[in-house]
Amino acid sequence: MAEYDYDVLVIGAGPGGYVAAIRAAQLGLKTACAESRETLGGTCLNVGCIPSKALLHASELFEEAAGGKLAKLGVKFDKVSLDLDAMHAQRLDAVKGLTGGIEFLFKKNKVTWLKGRAAFTDAHTVTVGDQTVSAKHIVIATGSSVTPLPGVEVDQQVVVDSTGALELPKVPEHLVVIGGGVIGLELGSVWKRLGAKVTVVEYLDQILPGFDGDVRKESLKLFKKQGIEFKTGTKVTGVAVDGGKATVTIEPAKGGDAETLTADTVLVAIGRRPNTDGLSLDKAGLSVNQRGQIEVDHSFKTAVDGIWAIGDVVPGPMLAHKAEDEGIAVAENIAGLHGIVNHDLIPSVVYTMPEIAGIGLTEEAAKEKGEVKVGKFPMAGNSRAKTNHEPDGFVKVIADAKTDKVLGVWIITSVAGTMIAQATQAMEFGATSEDIALTCHAHPTHPEALKEAAMAVMGKPIHI
Ligand code: FAD
Ligand code: NAI
Repeated sequence: MAEYDYDVLVIGAGPGGYVAAIRAAQLGLKTACAESRETLGGTCLNVGCIPSKALLHASELFEEAAGGKLAKLGVKFDKVSLDLDAMHAQRLDAVKGLTGGIEFLFKKNKVTWLKGRAAFTDAHTVTVGDQTVSAKHIVIATGSSVTPLPGVEVDQQVVVDSTGALELPKVPEHLVVIGGGVIGLELGSVWKRLGAKVTVVEYLDQILPGFDGDVRKESLKLFKKQGIEFKTGTKVTGVAVDGGKATVTIEPAKGGDAETLTADTVLVAIGRRPNTDGLSLDKAGLSVNQRGQIEVDHSFKTAVDGIWAIGDVVPGPMLAHKAEDEGIAVAENIAGLHGIVNHDLIPSVVYTMPEIAGIGLTEEAAKEKGEVKVGKFPMAGNSRAKTNHEPDGFVKVIADAKTDKVLGVWIITSVAGTMIAQATQAMEFGATSEDIALTCHAHPTHPEALKEAAMAVMGKPIHI
């Protein structure tokens, strides 16, 4: 009889966990995946990436039609109206299709789905619901949950988190968003496009922490131009709910006079924290760091032999593609191969309009490491963006002043999320700005702006 029930047991079926489980099974390992949700796919497919993008796409089309952008292109409508129920239905449809797809992939790859919440009893054994299972290797991929704001209770009616904000049954008159990060800006954009007044309250002086300084400044300008109001350098000191309305008390982060905002919906989006509650990590001999994360080495091994961890529960950006790549790498490492993730090159994308994307170092971080050259090209000089009436944004390439190696690329334009793949691949291959500048780009396309920004590093763009 085998010593363990499974070669690999993955806890959590988000983009990290389900990918790890599938890859482990593909590599011939007997694999199970425990998931406490009713459906597979984790935060990303159920209440994160996918439903938010479904609403971002639909609300963008609505705004183009209702706001007169399509009329300017000669596409006229007699009357544009919002069917919010239908918009939500297509969101749910996208979620159902994709989560069902993971179930299909589990069956196809012979991954056993253990339904229920997992908790360790020792380093090789967990309980999942009323079953006890053992595995030679256990991968913790339990993801993250919304960080609560002390003193502000999320009731998912008036005060919502991102999950509640995806499901609002009607367009709020006034949505106050606490947190000018990725969630606040994406979901704030959705409801603004559908007709809400939106005010974002951000503790720091700038939105989008972690992004390049120029990008943060330009994005704030663009969101303000779209009509989103911002209270930066401002903290929320309390939210009182009465009769279906919220009174949000704010004051300058550095101290000063308080003021109040009245809202019918308040979205709390101040970050996410790792999920380890209820896992009984101590029974496996594991503990978390000060940020609540499980520490791992470069191969995703934890401090305990046979236990591995990936995704939002470990340090690093909380992004689905980072979790997925770690999922593949951990399975390969368990199988004795060499699974590697280059954590220096994880792209970030904010799926607003325009999209905002970045890879590698910000200009500020690059300058701390040494001398740099920066090339910037405005989208107003790109023929395709101009033709599509998308004058906003730019591409910025940051290169090492001595070697010309590209250290970072930052993009604001409608298709920045797609364009960043090229920059990421170039950097993964160790490209110089000259390599990008000498690469033939199809015309007329947005990516030509990347070529021009690369040319600008040497001071020789053509179209500005
Ligand atoms: P998760 O996806 O969180 O999955 C973990 C799973 O583990 C969950 O299903 C949970 O139920 C399960 N679990 C937890 N504990 C247990 C237990 N004890 N037993 C059994 N199961 C357990 N990222 C992007 O890259 N692009 C985006 O566009 C994007 N949009 C987002 C939008 C929103 C609104 C949110 C909230 C997040 C978004 N993210 C996005 C972030 C992305 O969802 C996460 O980075 C990603 O889901 C992390 O994957 P994971 O596998 O580590 O964890
Ligand atoms: P975030 O970390 O991106 O932004 C949180 C913002 O809230 C920060 O700007 C922070 O300064 C601010 N803040 C913190 N405390 C505050 C307070 N008390 N008052 C006012 N502002 C405060 O976190 P967010 O937006 O909640 O998203 C969580 C994570 O989910 C992201 O870090 C990202 O990894 C992931 N995500 C990714 C998406 C994407 O890739 N497109 C989309 C949505 C989420």
